[in-house]
Amino acid sequence: MDKLRIVGRKRLTGSVAIGGAKNASLPAMAASLLTNEPVTLTNVPDVWDVGTMRRLLLRLGTHVVQPSLDEITLTTARLASDEAPYELVKTMRASVLILGPLLARNGRARVSLPGGCAIGARPIDEHIRGLEMLGAKVSLEHGVIDAKTEGLFGATIRFGTVSVGGTENLMMASCLARGETILENCAREPEIEDLAELLVRMGASIEGAGTDRIRVHGVDRLHGARHRIVPDRIEAGTYLIAGALMGDDVRITECRPSHLEALTEILDRIGVPLVIGEDSLSVCAADEGLDGVVEVETAPYPGFPTDIQAQLMALLTQARGPSRLSETIFENRFMHTSELARLGARIELRGNQAIVHGPTPLAGTNVMATDLRASACLVLAGLAAEGETLIDRVYHLDRGYEHIEEKMAGLGAEVERFA
Ligand code: EPZ
Repeated sequence: MDKLRIVGRKRLTGSVAIGGAKNASLPAMAASLLTNEPVTLTNVPDVWDVGTMRRLLLRLGTHVVQPSLDEITLTTARLASDEAPYELVKTMRASVLILGPLLARNGRARVSLPGGCAIGARPIDEHIRGLEMLGAKVSLEHGVIDAKTEGLFGATIRFGTVSVGGTENLMMASCLARGETILENCAREPEIEDLAELLVRMGASIEGAGTDRIRVHGVDRLHGARHRIVPDRIEAGTYLIAGALMGDDVRITECRPSHLEALTEILDRIGVPLVIGEDSLSVCAADEGLDGVVEVETAPYPGFPTDIQAQLMALLTQARGPSRLSETIFENRFMHTSELARLGARIELRGNQAIVHGPTPLAGTNVMATDLRASACLVLAGLAAEGETLIDRVYHLDRGYEHIEEKMAGLGAEVERFA
């Protein structure tokens, strides 16, 4: 089980290029099931979850050609299976994103019910209710969701909870439903807009993606397409915070600053020097320190992203506090606080709120990653800590961060991986 060894307090300079978004790549790969023609995705990140989705599609009968690490062509001329098995779903909940496209393509889809994960129960009731409203019969036997239909038909569906995956699953399924589907109270994340862009390139008729109301006119079939995945706003935000902690002059390129406004607004408010360009951001550590007396609440896009909450907390340990972070999306997304405390941070937990008392000097020690974004938080804290930090279970990191030790070392950090 790999570990990362970080020697902290190294100044960071130079530029880092952001890769394609993991959370756009996964639904885009699932969308390839909607046609029997080739779908080529470029700017795909080299991360573990993309590999898991690739293995899942191979199991379903998809032919995969990957001429380079960041390009993949998926062709499902015919299906070899209609089931996503437990051994793959348990390692990646996003496997549930094949439910909508597979049902629409094949009239049947079986997906092992994804268990909970470290950050929460993660139910998929919105996905199932929506598919039933589109004409599917969905049953649950022995932990497997079995969805069948004689043919999907358009419906007006209002989400009870704003759900990224639910919006994506139903948007994909409704592309091949007869008639018009209206989805209301949709998630508005940029990754949903990116998925809609791909689907339209494949011949779908979709309006309103990126807003809370999406209208889909069903078509008889979809064709192949080529699509470049949108830059990863969460990766970009993670490097932005690294620069805010230890940067002399860090430039983050090939990103979309417009997708990070909730974060850049907070960084600006606490005194982080930022230069915001069209497709790049420049950041450095503030000479006179940071004023962290802020209240930040995670929310669906365009609110502050839950996927950057842990990383911001690492920064707020170095700001004059107290700062208050409220996690409203997931019920258990503060596991990084106990690991930050091992490094010297002073954080009080009160229900879904974390009060960060700073600034506190951090001293390197052994810590353990618990989930993808918590592990990114520990890397950031290790960069700021005096001495050596050893992070265990870095497989969590590899799920969503492309070559993080190379990219951080390229900025001047002392980071190495060892078994
Ligand atoms: C996506 O997960 C992302 N994953 C998550 O990123 C991200 O944290 C999350 O959206 C919120 O932004 C991918 O895109 C692959 P949701 P998803 O459905 O779709 C509740 C990362 O670190 N809910 O928007 O699973 C749910 O419990 C990962 O990259 C229901 O109640 O999230 C949660 O409280 C972690 N019923 C809230 O909605 C449902 O049917 C948001 O979940 C579905 C969701």
